[in-house]
Amino acid sequence: MIQRNTSLNSARPVTPLSLIVAQLVDLTERAEELSYNDPDFVRMLHKVSALAEGLDPYIAACSTPESEALEALATRTQQEDWAGRLAQGETTLALEQEMLSGHVEGQFLKMLVHAAQARKVLEIGLFTGYSALAMAEALPEDGSVLAFEMDAFAAGFAQEQFAQSPHGKKIRVEVGPAMESLKRLTSDEGPFDLIFIDADKGNYSAYLQTIIERSLLSPHGLICVDNTLMQGQPYLDQERSANGEAIARFNETVMNNPNVEQVLLPLRDGLTLIRQV
Ligand SMILES: C[S@@+](CC[C@H](N)C(=O)[O-])C[C@H]1O[C@@H](n2cnc3c(N)ncnc32)[C@H](O)[C@@H]1O
Repeated sequence: MIQRNTSLNSARPVTPLSLIVAQLVDLTERAEELSYNDPDFVRMLHKVSALAEGLDPYIAACSTPESEALEALATRTQQEDWAGRLAQGETTLALEQEMLSGHVEGQFLKMLVHAAQARKVLEIGLFTGYSALAMAEALPEDGSVLAFEMDAFAAGFAQEQFAQSPHGKKIRVEVGPAMESLKRLTSDEGPFDLIFIDADKGNYSAYLQTIIERSLLSPHGLICVDNTLMQGQPYLDQERSANGEAIARFNETVMNNPNVEQVLLPLRDGLTLIRQV
């Protein structure tokens, strides 16, 4: 049975799977209303709907639970009135709770930090700090996360959360456009063992190019890029949003680059892992 969270602001569907679930639930309700003569049809719809709807909750249930600090950070992010903050001019960008990566992706990033035996992590796009704190939790005591964030309100919000965790001290936040921060990096700040790209999609190709040109990735390092399925837009035969177009172009750039090896995982809204060869 699927547990739906009703106590917090409910998140809208933003991943290919959650969009499929929403459509299937809608289709099933309509089929029931129309009382089709063929009962097998409605039964089949129920079955495929349950198959899709149960997947994310089951994956979450089978994954190591998030820490109390991460759970609290996610809850506070859901409770925040992001539209109100924008209307009041407190945020410079239209931020929303759906931007937060969350439990399973956070746990996956933690696994990567362990597997890569990472000491230095770079994050492009901090938001309220979920992925940064998840990665920091997996780092050794002398490990560090350097996180770039354009929006000062989001950066302040994240730093308040970091103060509640013993791992928060491993994270340093730099506020401003990530491309400028990337270009300002000095050689002793890098190279990085893990780089998580999760900011403005239009700059993804430029971030990757800058990382490679400036040798910011350590020889055994990994680059993780979020939202590379962008709600299915890159492979759907329909008009794309600006973000959908940017991700489609980025994925092509990566596929055509003979100097990298990559895999696109259907985790949440798509996560591509890239290494230099
Ligand atoms: C998807 S959210 C990051 C989510 C976060 N990594 C997590 O897992 O919770 C993207 C963030 O990138 C920030 N951002 C957008 N454009 C940026 C830019 N040019 N430079 C730095 N940060 C930017 C946004 O303000 C937003 O907080």
